[in-house]
Amino acid sequence: MTATQERTAVPFAEIRDRLGERYALAQVTLAELEADTNAVLRRLREESPIAVCAELEALFALRWADVQTVVSRSELFRSDQPDSFLTRFVGPNMLHSEGREHQAARSAVLPAFRATDPGMPAEVDRRYAQLRGAHDDGTPCDLAKEFCIPLVAQATINLLGCEDAVTPAQMDRWGPLVSKGAFDFHEFGAARDDVDGVRAEISAMVAEYVDGRRRARPDSVLGCMAKASSSLDETRRMVEFMIIGADAGPREGLSTVLACVLTADREVRSRLVDSPALRQSFVDEALRWESPIGGITREARVDTELSGVAIERGTRVIGVLPSANRDPLRWPDGDTFVPDRGDRAHLSFGAGMHGCIGAALSRRLADAMVLAVASDPAVRPYAVPQYRGWWYRGPSAVLATWT
Ligand code: HEM
Repeated sequence: MTATQERTAVPFAEIRDRLGERYALAQVTLAELEADTNAVLRRLREESPIAVCAELEALFALRWADVQTVVSRSELFRSDQPDSFLTRFVGPNMLHSEGREHQAARSAVLPAFRATDPGMPAEVDRRYAQLRGAHDDGTPCDLAKEFCIPLVAQATINLLGCEDAVTPAQMDRWGPLVSKGAFDFHEFGAARDDVDGVRAEISAMVAEYVDGRRRARPDSVLGCMAKASSSLDETRRMVEFMIIGADAGPREGLSTVLACVLTADREVRSRLVDSPALRQSFVDEALRWESPIGGITREARVDTELSGVAIERGTRVIGVLPSANRDPLRWPDGDTFVPDRGDRAHLSFGAGMHGCIGAALSRRLADAMVLAVASDPAVRPYAVPQYRGWWYRGPSAVLATWT
C-alpha cells in the first residue's frame, strides 16, 4: 500500500513557491525521480535530507532515522486521512485509520494472514515446470509476467478465499485497475469505465459469498468477514482494499527478487538451494536494494522537527523508502546488493501500526520462487533486467531462457 496522492486545485507552481518559501529546501520533481531514482535520492540525501516535492504537495524525508520517525511515531505523524484519495475511493479502510477503528479492521482479517498456504510451494513448482516446457524451443520467457504475476494473483485469490469464483487472469486484471482508481489520479479519468466495470465484478463476486450462494474457507479474508457478520458493503470494501494491497507491492517486489536470483552467479544459486537462511537474507536484500514502494504518507500531527528542519503541524510528509533503505548512516555499502547481508530490517514493508500485514505471505511466496529458479541449473538471463518507476519500482521484464 502507498501514499495518498491528493487531487489538488492549486497550481503546482504556487504550491512549490509556498512550500519553498516556508521551507528553504531542495526541490525535487517526479520526472527527475522517474528518470534516475537512486542517483537523485543519493544526491538529495547528501544535500538536503528533507526536500520539497511540490507535485505531491509534500515534504520528503530521506534519511533512515527520519523515515522511521515519520512512519512509526504516530504521536507525531498521523495516518488517519478521512479525505485521502484512497478513502474517498474505497471508503473507510485500515491504512488510513488509527486506534480502535484500525485495530478492529486489522484483527478481523489477521487469521487469514496467519494461515499458511500449504499448496503454494507445489503450485510454484508446477507453474515453473510448465513454463520451462512451453519455452523449450528457446523463446525467451518473461518470468515477471508469466511466473510472478500469475502466482501473486493466485496467492491473492487464496488469501481472499474465492478460489472457486475467480481465476488468476481475472485477479490480474482487477488488481491494477482498482489500484489505478485508488491512487493513480492522473490517469483515473481515462480508465474510469474500466475501473467501474471491475468494481461491479468484484461486488457481484463478494455478494455471492455474503448472501450464502458460495462459502469461503474460515481462514480466508471472506471467511473472516463472514465470521464477523460483516455487511455486504463492509465486505466489499475490505476485499477491494485487500486487492489494492496485494497488487503493486508484491508484483514489483517479487519480480525484483526473481531478477536478482536469475542474475546471481552459479555459486550463490547453489548455496540458495541448500540454505533457507540465505534465501531469507536474499529475498529481503532484494526488497531493500530496489524498494518496490516509493513512500509512505503521513501528516504532522503537531509542530515537530526532522533533521533540524522545523515541520509545521498539518504538513504532509512522505517517508521515502528507497532512500531510507540505502542511507549510508544505516546501511554500509547500501547501493550494493549483498546476498548474505543478513540484516532484514529494511523499511520496504513499512513499520509501526500499519506495517505490512502481507509481509510474511510475500516472503513465503518469494522463498518458493527463489528455490524454483535457483534449483534449475539450465536457466539463464536473456537480458540484463532494467528497473523503472519510483513510486512503484521493479524490473520492466525478467527475461530468461533455457537454451
Ligand atoms: C513485497 C510485497 C509487499 C510490499 C513491498 C508491501 C508494502 C507495504 C507497505 C510499505 C505498507 C505500509 C503502508 C503505510 O504505512 O502507509 C503496507 C501495508 C499494508 N499491506 Fe503490504 N506490501 C506487500 C505485500 C502485501 C500483500 C500480499 C498484501 C495482501 C493483501 C498486503 C496488504 C497490506 C495491507 C492491508 C496494509 C495496511 C496494514 C495496516 O494499515 O495495518 N501487502 N504494505
